[in-house]
Amino acid sequence: MADDTTDTKSSNQMWGGRFASGPDAIMEEINASIGFDKKLFAQDIRGSIAHATMLAHQGIISADDKDKIVHGLNTILSEIESGNFEFSRQLEDIHMNVEARLATLIGPAAGRLHTARSRNDQVALDFRLWVKEELQKTEQMLTGLIAAFLDRAEEHAESVMPGFTHLQTAQPVTFGHHCMAYVEMFGRDRSRVRHAIEHLDESPIGAAALAGTGYPIDRHMTARALGFREPTRNSIDTVSDRDFAIEFLSIAAIAGMHLSRLAEEIVIWSTPQFGFVRLSDAFSTGSSIMPQKKNPDAAELVRAKTGRINGSLVALLTIMKGLPLAYSKDMQEDKEQVFDAAESLELAIAAMTGMVRDMTVNTARMKAAAGSGYSTATDLADWLVREAGLPFRDAHHVTGRAVALAESKGCDLAELPLSDLQAIHADITDKVYDVLTVEASVASRKSFGGTAPSEVRRQIAFWRARN
Ligand code: ARG
Repeated sequence: MADDTTDTKSSNQMWGGRFASGPDAIMEEINASIGFDKKLFAQDIRGSIAHATMLAHQGIISADDKDKIVHGLNTILSEIESGNFEFSRQLEDIHMNVEARLATLIGPAAGRLHTARSRNDQVALDFRLWVKEELQKTEQMLTGLIAAFLDRAEEHAESVMPGFTHLQTAQPVTFGHHCMAYVEMFGRDRSRVRHAIEHLDESPIGAAALAGTGYPIDRHMTARALGFREPTRNSIDTVSDRDFAIEFLSIAAIAGMHLSRLAEEIVIWSTPQFGFVRLSDAFSTGSSIMPQKKNPDAAELVRAKTGRINGSLVALLTIMKGLPLAYSKDMQEDKEQVFDAAESLELAIAAMTGMVRDMTVNTARMKAAAGSGYSTATDLADWLVREAGLPFRDAHHVTGRAVALAESKGCDLAELPLSDLQAIHADITDKVYDVLTVEASVASRKSFGGTAPSEVRRQIAFWRARN
């Protein structure tokens, strides 16, 4: 700054003619955060109203000044909401933009608002309030996504599909069971969100610059007014802590990873080669050159958004890792990362909820695929253990020979004649055919959490009661 005795930036418009040279313009550009922190206007005004009310209650400012301040702040709120507010980059950030406008509106009383606080606790407050609201929104959106999966799982509790490991056909499962796997994943994300809300539920305002204040403030009163459980306990930590933002980003990164895996499955399932699902027109796009194509662009973009979210998490961790206590201006760079990640996460959840609700499931295709690749081989081995008393290792070997024979004949296990099976092991009877179908295979897996329709329905009932 050319002159730090100048108390407001607007005066620099008066003397700036001569001085508006390179460095000052660059200083303003690197310093200003209003371009992005204006998003915090509602939180900033709410915080200021709570602060002014507390100051008056404690006799630190007069009731008359408080009334003027609160009235002025409400006017500013409606100005901003209706788009009639001019943000100024010279005023750096949302806090000074609001305060400068307050001075224009109500005169000298505006100068009393900043008593017993600093922009350091102010920004910590505004940002925490914003992140808390975003977490609450995320919680609701995840509940919507879980509900979409529960409906599809119910509808397809008996629809057989191939289960994969290494993306190779492993054993038949039901599509309902596969859907419920995502319910577990997004359910964990949601409980992480709930924990994060608990962690951040402490009010920073009143920590002031870093050391607290000599004014007789009541931090419990502002905490209550702003909907926090209690005030933070250490003023130094309060102004230098951005864990709540990092926690939001790590939750977003984990949820993004889940969304991206789902996106990848949808991309694979919707190829003509798999043909397990058909995306609705609402969630796919055409090709400008190949008329036959229907592309899963939304799923692909969800997969890509996850990359952005991961980038934001790493960026903020890196911004914070070398900072000495307490506040440093580096911390101003926290907001864009969180805003960008929040937007990406919201879009990704919304797109996935829509896709899951709208997609058409091709059960015939899934069932045919479930039966190919000798997916009931384990069922044959289990039958040999159960009915013929073989040790599992021997049963595995016998089954391997049956698979090899079927392969050489170009047929499924269930299509091998009994004489062929008996030539491999004499104790095999025609009862074995009961377990070689995919339906029988799936129905037999009744272990807790298994793929049998009865178990899938138990899982659905558990989550319905929770959701
Ligand atoms: N715009 C700043 C930020 O986002 C507000 C806090 C500024 N504090 C300060 N001491 N300069 O971090």
